[in-house]
Amino acid sequence: MKELEERIKADGTVLSGDVLKVDQFLNHQVDPDLMFAIGQRFAQLFADNNITKIITVESSGIAPAIMTGLQLHVPVIFARKHKSLTLTDDLYTANVRSFTKQTDNQITISKKYLTSSDNVLIIDDFLANGQAVFGLLEIAKQAKFNVAGVGIVIEKSFQPGAQKIKDQGIRLESLAKIKSLADGQVTFMSAE
Ligand code: G4P
Ligand code: NA
Ligand code: NA
Repeated sequence: MKELEERIKADGTVLSGDVLKVDQFLNHQVDPDLMFAIGQRFAQLFADNNITKIITVESSGIAPAIMTGLQLHVPVIFARKHKSLTLTDDLYTANVRSFTKQTDNQITISKKYLTSSDNVLIIDDFLANGQAVFGLLEIAKQAKFNVAGVGIVIEKSFQPGAQKIKDQGIRLESLAKIKSLADGQVTFMSAE
């Protein structure tokens, strides 16, 4: 998506450790017009897939997920990140390992909002190692709903998540694919 790549070039900054900071429009300040366009793109890509619900993980996945739900006219559910204590009966729970922080976190979704007849689109802001997506796929297995595909705003194609999702035969649509962040420079796959 050209508009997104241009925005990353203009307002993204590359931090050490192959991290792209996009706090100016996605992860802290949020640009609603850009998010609307992102939602429009995902809605186009999945228009013929009979999506019944969208799921994401709080917090940064919510903006693009909502904008997609707005345009597919389906509800959006965000998995919560919190340490579960004892009341797990009515929750689907999955473990998400953060490589960046070297911690394990649980994500949870209430059983109330997903059924085995749902056809779900997973949306997230970043795809790096894929842990968030794999957590949501674990919940899909528990709840027995179908996953029609995964929509990612920014894929770091040089990290393993994207390939791992595709290896499972799951449809992956990433709006910006980053080939490299070496030497403080953003290089997109599309630049080839
Ligand atoms: P992953 O396996 O889910 O792909 O992510 P990973 O554990 O590698 O990274 C942990 C967190 O860092 C995730 O957000 C992920 O989206 C985010 N992340 C990974 N690479 C980048 C990057 O280059 N730039 C930015 N800005 N974020 C990155 P989180 O902390 O779980 O979510 P949230 O609370 O921000 O939504
Ligand atoms: Na995220
Ligand atoms: Na994030």
